[in-house]
Amino acid sequence: MADDLDAIRSELDAAAAAADTTAAIEAVRIDFLGRKGRITELLKTLGALAPDARRERGANLNRLKTDVESRLEARRRSLSDQALDQRLGSERFDVTLPTRPESEGRLHPISQTIDEVVAIFGEMGFQVAEGPDIEDDWHNFTALNIPPEHPARQTMDTFYLPGQPGAPKTVLRTHTSPVQVRTMKILKPPIRIIVPGRTFRSDSDATHSPMFHQVEGLLIDETTHFGHLKGCLIDFCRAFFGIDNLPVRFRPSYFPFTEPSAEVDIGCSRKGGELKIGGGDDWLEILGSGMVNPKVLENCGIDSTKYQGFAFGMGLERIAMLKHGIPDLRTFYESDLRWLRHYGFSELSVPSMVLGLEP
Ligand code: DAH
Repeated sequence: MADDLDAIRSELDAAAAAADTTAAIEAVRIDFLGRKGRITELLKTLGALAPDARRERGANLNRLKTDVESRLEARRRSLSDQALDQRLGSERFDVTLPTRPESEGRLHPISQTIDEVVAIFGEMGFQVAEGPDIEDDWHNFTALNIPPEHPARQTMDTFYLPGQPGAPKTVLRTHTSPVQVRTMKILKPPIRIIVPGRTFRSDSDATHSPMFHQVEGLLIDETTHFGHLKGCLIDFCRAFFGIDNLPVRFRPSYFPFTEPSAEVDIGCSRKGGELKIGGGDDWLEILGSGMVNPKVLENCGIDSTKYQGFAFGMGLERIAMLKHGIPDLRTFYESDLRWLRHYGFSELSVPSMVLGLEP
C-alpha cells in the first residue's frame, strides 16, 4: 500500500521541479491537495479500512500531505530568489550621477509677519491667544458694545452662516476682537494678550480680501492708562518697521468697544509717487486702538471700577504690504509660486524690540 504513496511522492517531485511560475505551483497544489486532489481522495478512503491499517495509512497520508506543502513552499521560495537574482544582475546604479536639485520652500509673508509681531509683543510680555473663526453674534458684536441695530454692524460686511431656528446667530468673525471677550471671561487681570488670526468680510479689491488677517491686542490691569497704550504702540511700530525714529501719530477716532479711541498713523513720504515709510510729511493709518470701554469689561465679568486697560487691532496684510512694498492684497492668496519666491522669506528672521537690531 505504501508503494502507491512513494509513486505519488516521485510524481510530486517531478511536477514541483517542472513548475516554474507561481500559477503552475498553485496548479500542482490543487492537483494533490485540492478538494478533489489525489491525496484528498485517498484520505476519503480511510474510513473503509480496519482500525490498525487506518491508523498507519492515515499517518502516512498526513506525512505526505505535509511533504507536498513544504515541497511547494520551497519551490516558491526558490523561484522568487531566482527572480531577485535576475533583477539584481540586470540593474545598475551609477553612484557618480549628480544629485537631483532640491527646491527650497519659502515662508509666506503673512506667516513671517505673524512671527515678527509675536516676537515684538512677546518681548513686551504679551502672550498669544486664539479663538474660533466661526463666532456667535454675542462675542463678535454684542459683548463688544455693538448692539443689534448699531451702525457698526453695517460697516463690517458680515458673512452670516445659515442659522438653526432657536440657536444663536453665527458669523465668520469680522475681526479678532471677540477673542478679547473670550479671554476676559476666562482669565483674571492682569491680562496681556495678542491674537493673530483669520478674519472675514464680504469685500474684495486691491486692498481688501474676503479672508484676511488681523492681530488684536489687549492689556488689562489696575492702573493702565493711555500713556501705556501710546508707549507700547510707538515701540511696536518702530520695531516692526525697523526705524528708530519713525514718527507715530495718535488721531482721535471712534470704536464702540473703546473710549477714548485713537487711530494710529505712521510718518511717510510719497515723493515722486513712491511711498517711503519713515520721514516725510505724510501719514499712513495702520491701526485702531483705545481704552477698553467699561461696558465691555462689565459684559465680560470684569469689575470696571477696579480694572482698566487698552486694546488695539490691525490688519496684518496691510502692515506686511507697507513694510515690503507689496502693491496688491489679492496676490497674497493666489498661490502663485513666482510671487512667493519673490516676496517669501527663506529663513526665520525676526526683528527685535531692541531697536536698531533688525537682522
Ligand atoms: N476690531 C477693529 C476692526 O476690525 C479694530 C480695532 C480697533 C480693535 C480698536 C481694537 C481696538 O481692539 O481697540 O476694525
